[in-house]
Amino acid sequence: MHAWLCENPTGVDALRWQELPTPTPGAGEVLIEIAAASLNFPDLLIVQNQYQFKPTPPFVPGSEYAGWVRAVGPGVTHLQPGQAVACLTGTGGFATHTAAPADRCIPLPPAFDLTDAAAFIMTYATAYHALIDRAALQPGETVLVLGAAGGVGTASIQVAKHAGARVIAAASSADKCALSQRIGADATLDYSVHTAAGSFRDELKRLTDGRGPDVIVDPVGGDLAEPAFRSIAWRGRYLVIGFAGGPIPRLPLNLPLLKGASLVGVFWGEFARREPQANAAMLQTLAQWYLQGHIKPVIDRVLPMTELPQAYALMAERQVRGKVVLRNDH
Ligand SMILES: NC(=O)c1ccc[n+]([C@@H]2O[C@H](COP(=O)([O-])OP(=O)(O)OC[C@H]3O[C@@H](n4cnc5c(N)ncnc54)[C@H](OP(=O)(O)O)[C@@H]3O)[C@@H](O)[C@H]2O)c1
Repeated sequence: MHAWLCENPTGVDALRWQELPTPTPGAGEVLIEIAAASLNFPDLLIVQNQYQFKPTPPFVPGSEYAGWVRAVGPGVTHLQPGQAVACLTGTGGFATHTAAPADRCIPLPPAFDLTDAAAFIMTYATAYHALIDRAALQPGETVLVLGAAGGVGTASIQVAKHAGARVIAAASSADKCALSQRIGADATLDYSVHTAAGSFRDELKRLTDGRGPDVIVDPVGGDLAEPAFRSIAWRGRYLVIGFAGGPIPRLPLNLPLLKGASLVGVFWGEFARREPQANAAMLQTLAQWYLQGHIKPVIDRVLPMTELPQAYALMAERQVRGKVVLRNDH
């Protein structure tokens, strides 16, 4: 087998594509032949030693992937060799093979495309947990999605639309806004044009007939968080998802008071750990939505697994629209 090995988490340049012994799955593990893996923002942070979860080096990055079970370890009963699976294991995915905990691998129905499956769990689970579970989104409500053309952003547009909401997609270029509209957003807000807080708020007011959005999806943080929160509707819910923009914003606590609004933390990984049954039910619903054609990962491009550094560069340079997938057969 081959894998991208991180011996020292000092950044993408330190990763090496290396031949390694193919692992034998231990108790509760399965050996996966990886067909495809996708890049998520935490994969970028983890090789820079900046993510909350810090694996002990050497490790193979790649949190999310799909492929086939090739061998099962002792005690594994729900998976068999030959079965197609999607896995979310934190590490191991940027490789040709990995030994994965069996309980982190979900059997896939035959109609589930493996490229889509590799780019599915993290973003859709986060979007669904945020919008449906944490924000209790109602049909007819208006959702503002920041960073709308990113992984979490594109999934949030699709989940919110399928839940019957009106979606305003906000992103940093006309091109990203156009993509957001193509996948279902009702209106867009280009924050490379409306850069000043006042202009951003005026445009949001115009797009919501003065009411403001009921729900705000924020995977970006940074300078737009405060003007976005100031624009929220009465009883609004502001979903704190991530800080791809860098600095963690601070908000004056009078703002939620004035709008009767809620600041809602979203941590899907911890939800999955603490509430496994609710998470499993949610993933089943999402798989059904996919098979019924209501949601589909937006794949920016598919690259060979050996070109992982290019995928990382696109993400760091804010160039990804949706998701980048790496395939072993490319
Ligand atoms: N809380 C949870 O449970 C959870 C789960 C999954 C992910 N996350 C977090 O959500 C965030 C987004 O993840 P993702 O996989 O959707 O990432 P992504 O695909 O890279 O999207 C992030 C978006 O952030 C915007 N952005 C603004 N400043 C940026 C910068 N300096 N560098 C990169 N992007 C920047 C970009 O949109 P514009 O160019 O349009 O501004 C980009 O499309 C990350 O912080 C991730 O850790 C949280």
